[in-house]
Amino acid sequence: MNKLLIKGGRPLDGTVQVSGAKNAALPIMCAALLTDGRLDLTNVPKLMDVATMAKLLGQMGVGIDRDGGGRMTLQADAISEPVAPYELVRTMRASILVLGPLVARCGRAKVSLPGGCAIGQRPVDQHLKGLAAMGVRLSVDHGYIHAEASRLVGARIVMDMVTVTGTENLMMAAALAEGTTVLENAAREPEVVDLANCLIAMGAKIEGAGTDLIRIEGVAALSGAVHPVMPDRIETGTYLAAAAASGGRIKLTGAAPGTLDATLGKFREAGARIHCGGDTIELEMAGRPSAVDLRTAPYPGFATDMQAQFMAVDAVALGTSVITENIFENRFMHVLELQRLGADISIQGNTAVVRGVEKLQGATVMATDLRASASLVIAGLVAEGETVIDRIYHLDRGYESLEQKLAGLGAHVQRLA
Ligand code: EPU
Repeated sequence: MNKLLIKGGRPLDGTVQVSGAKNAALPIMCAALLTDGRLDLTNVPKLMDVATMAKLLGQMGVGIDRDGGGRMTLQADAISEPVAPYELVRTMRASILVLGPLVARCGRAKVSLPGGCAIGQRPVDQHLKGLAAMGVRLSVDHGYIHAEASRLVGARIVMDMVTVTGTENLMMAAALAEGTTVLENAAREPEVVDLANCLIAMGAKIEGAGTDLIRIEGVAALSGAVHPVMPDRIETGTYLAAAAASGGRIKLTGAAPGTLDATLGKFREAGARIHCGGDTIELEMAGRPSAVDLRTAPYPGFATDMQAQFMAVDAVALGTSVITENIFENRFMHVLELQRLGADISIQGNTAVVRGVEKLQGATVMATDLRASASLVIAGLVAEGETVIDRIYHLDRGYESLEQKLAGLGAHVQRLA
């Protein structure tokens, strides 16, 4: 099991190239299931989750080619087996994103229920409710969702809560349905917009992506397309947090500043000087950050995927902050590990009170999920002495070339076998 050794205590300084967004690439790869045409993607990040998705699609007969850069072509001219097995779905919940495209294209699908997850229950009832409204017959047995329909029919679907992959699954299914589908209370995340743009390039008729009401007029068939995956706003925010916590300076290139308003606002509140160009973000934090309160919310609110990393900033800030997690019921697992590094944090339900300390101290800690791991890396970078982070496979799921990128910022980070 790989570990990361971090020698912390120095401000970060340098430039980092942002990778393509994991949470845009995964649904967009699934969109390849909707057509026998070739989908040419660029800016696809090299990540474990992307490899898992490629394996899952490959098992269904999708032809996939990748080059050493970010280019990936996918072609689903024939789908041999519209099945997503438990072994893959349990390692990556985003596998549920094949359900909508498969049933829309093949008229049937068998997809494992994702099961429990470290950060919360994460049910998929909204995905199923939406598909049922489009005429899909659904049953669940032996841990698998069985879906069947001759042709999906458009429907008006009001989602009970804002769900990102739920919106994406239904948008993909609706693209091939007969008639018009209206998704109300849809997720407004930029990754939903990126998927919609890819589907539109494939010939789908979609309006309103990026708002809470998306209208999809189904078409009989979609074609191949060329699409660049958007920059990863959470990776961007993670490096900004590392620079801010360490009192350093960073320039991110290949970024999409317009997708980070809430996050950038919080860094400004913490005292950072920020300058955005077309696809660059520069941040400078002179000395310790000031404590900043935050509440996670669906986009355009502060992203739950940035909560753990910002907590690491608040852990070394001047003053006390209150962090409220409103999206997932169990997304404070980093707190116990941050405490091992000397952070002063107490939890009451979905609220964490963080009393900033002047220094953290290196220790051995355990990564529990992707963003929790990122917060431990940030804490390790500012802690005095050596920090060893165990179970870093979580990081490989979502951060491309993490050690190299951090090394480019002057950090001492080493992977241990
Ligand atoms: N929910 C339901 N029923 C549903 C769907 C969702 O109750 O049918 C609940 C969830 O349990 C949660 C809330 O609704 O409490 C929001 O969940 P959502 O469905 O939006 O999450 P997701 O689509 O499964 C995506 C990202 C997550 C990110 C969340 C929230 C992908 C592949 N994953 O998950 O990313 O945290 O949206 O923004 O897009 C990560 O990258 O580390 C990550 C966990």
